Amino acid sequence: MLDWSDTEPAVATVRSLAPRRQAVLARLEPARQEPADQSGLGAIDRAGGRVSVDDKRMINCRADVNQLLPLKYRWAWEKYLSACNNHWMPTEVSMQADIALWKSRDGLTDDERRAIKRNLGFFAASESLVANNIVLAIYRHLTNPECRQYLLRQAFEEAVHTHTFQYVVESLGLDEGELFNMYREVPSITDKAAWALKHTQHLDDPTFRTGTPEHDQAFLRDLVAFYVVFEGMWFYTGFAQILSLGRRNKMVGIAEQYQYILRDESIHLNFGIDVINQIKIENPHLWTPDFQEELRGMLREAAELEAAYGRDTMPRGFLGLNAALCEQYMHFITNRRCAQIGLPPVFAEAENPFPWMSEAMDLKKEKNFFETRVIEYQNGGALSWD
Ligand SMILES: [Fe+2]
Ligand SMILES: [Fe+2]
Repeated sequence: MLDWSDTEPAVATVRSLAPRRQAVLARLEPARQEPADQSGLGAIDRAGGRVSVDDKRMINCRADVNQLLPLKYRWAWEKYLSACNNHWMPTEVSMQADIALWKSRDGLTDDERRAIKRNLGFFAASESLVANNIVLAIYRHLTNPECRQYLLRQAFEEAVHTHTFQYVVESLGLDEGELFNMYREVPSITDKAAWALKHTQHLDDPTFRTGTPEHDQAFLRDLVAFYVVFEGMWFYTGFAQILSLGRRNKMVGIAEQYQYILRDESIHLNFGIDVINQIKIENPHLWTPDFQEELRGMLREAAELEAAYGRDTMPRGFLGLNAALCEQYMHFITNRRCAQIGLPPVFAEAENPFPWMSEAMDLKKEKNFFETRVIEYQNGGALSWD
């Protein structure tokens, strides 16, 4: 026989609810206050209303993360569109001149070869570290669909950048084990990678959740470590080294690839800065004086690690480039990044020793590709169904 004692009568009244059921609902109530499904993979909320712009938040959002529209953060969507317009592949750049120079006996000095190899070694693994951080740490906790749309595009671009280093290794016949292990075997590179990783390791923990000031600050620390420091500071001295050689007509293929990477990275950096600033606007309680001091300390430490890497990479320096100039450039860049996220400068005012870097970013893809495109490029052939 059916027991009707705990089922809903046809015409329910509040009074008719059994006390036991009211107690159960009361116990369930706190669970309803928890942030809603933030992954986008939870059970579908059939009774949930449509998302309105005001429901959207950067972190700890309770609105459905599977609904891209209506857009709230147009800056994220615009960056996604710009990134798609910048599409390129490393194999579209000719490596002939670089191969000839690398194989020539006296085209490059030993110091130049050391700097090039260490530079490639730093980037080769760093692109993967950045990609893994986006996919495994940041994506889970950034609860906004237009930002996730951009992250998906950025993740692909990091794959293209990693592909670039595979293509360079293959073209020049470099020792792949030596290059891809430098982040483990060359202490000045390991120190940088280890510094960044310590800010992401706990976010990668499956039990980590944002939603408390402490955890939200941990997420901001990760964004600062990867977007502001890794992509926004360390990559920039790496670009300056190779583009400086390119200006002297050396390793022009790699220099052209670095121009494309730099164009992508400048959007990655600006996206990260916009994300940090938007989280600050929505969560002003996180941006305490102590936390700001801590972030300034992080940027100072990161600049010092970069200076050590510069001394290791260019112990004697070469034409137009040396460790002291790179350190000065890092001070200039660090202060700039501080200003971009609303922090007081870390270093005394420093002049930009590489003013030509801004020209290098002003890239006209069509013109460059027309001049340097590999004639026997095989993209069409890859579509053969035979
Ligand atoms: Fe990259
Ligand atoms: Fe990047």
